Amino acid sequence: MQADVTEIAPDTFRISTFHPDFGIQFNQFLIRDEEPFLMHTGFRRMFDTTLAGVRSIIDPSQLRWIGFSHFESDECGALNQWLAIAPRAQTLCSFVGATVTVSDFADRAPRALSDGEVVPIGRHRLRFLATPQVPHGWDAGLFYDEAVQTLLCSDLFFQPGDPTALSESDIVGPATDAIRAGIDGPLAKDMPYTPHTDATMRRLAALKPRTLATMHGSSFRGDGEKALAELGAAIRELLGKA
Ligand SMILES: [Fe+2]
Ligand SMILES: [Fe+2]
Repeated sequence: MQADVTEIAPDTFRISTFHPDFGIQFNQFLIRDEEPFLMHTGFRRMFDTTLAGVRSIIDPSQLRWIGFSHFESDECGALNQWLAIAPRAQTLCSFVGATVTVSDFADRAPRALSDGEVVPIGRHRLRFLATPQVPHGWDAGLFYDEAVQTLLCSDLFFQPGDPTALSESDIVGPATDAIRAGIDGPLAKDMPYTPHTDATMRRLAALKPRTLATMHGSSFRGDGEKALAELGAAIRELLGKA
């Protein structure tokens, strides 16, 4: 496997690996700055592929921060391999994630972030948003780069296949189709619809992101507020009436 690297926003690189066994892309995002930040580590077994992608952008040993949304193998399976090769690297995750899982799993202590906390990494500023159960997991959170208005949105806007790196047209349609197609599949009920889901999606839309950095499928450049509002409506419609 080989990673494709694309700059989707200023100094924001999408490192994408299509995995034929899953039939989907696994996308990591590197923000190049004084304190480089990697969103998602990728799978443990994909570490060499992801590492090569990062190496094409920066010296991997200089990585300073590793963030992810929730504890799953594609989000943080290679965490300890990254901590081993980057001696200054520290994990950024939710308070719940640190308390419940990461403090024990990780070879170095994580930094637990509270909701709304900002981590400046140079010219870029990452705001952490605690989003429990969105896209899924008690520990879930998302990062928003305030400097270039990019929302690192993990599994939101999931699109299967191997689509283009950056779309300026519709990704809500394919993402909605994927939710609908998954309802009766073996991985069904991945996203719970809770009393907090609508408010969380409205909060994300209110950020007015210009770029949506998606973990599986095309990233999006355009009206992020509209896309998040439309995805929120689709989630409510398809998952809110079990
Ligand atoms: Fe996930
Ligand atoms: Fe994922």
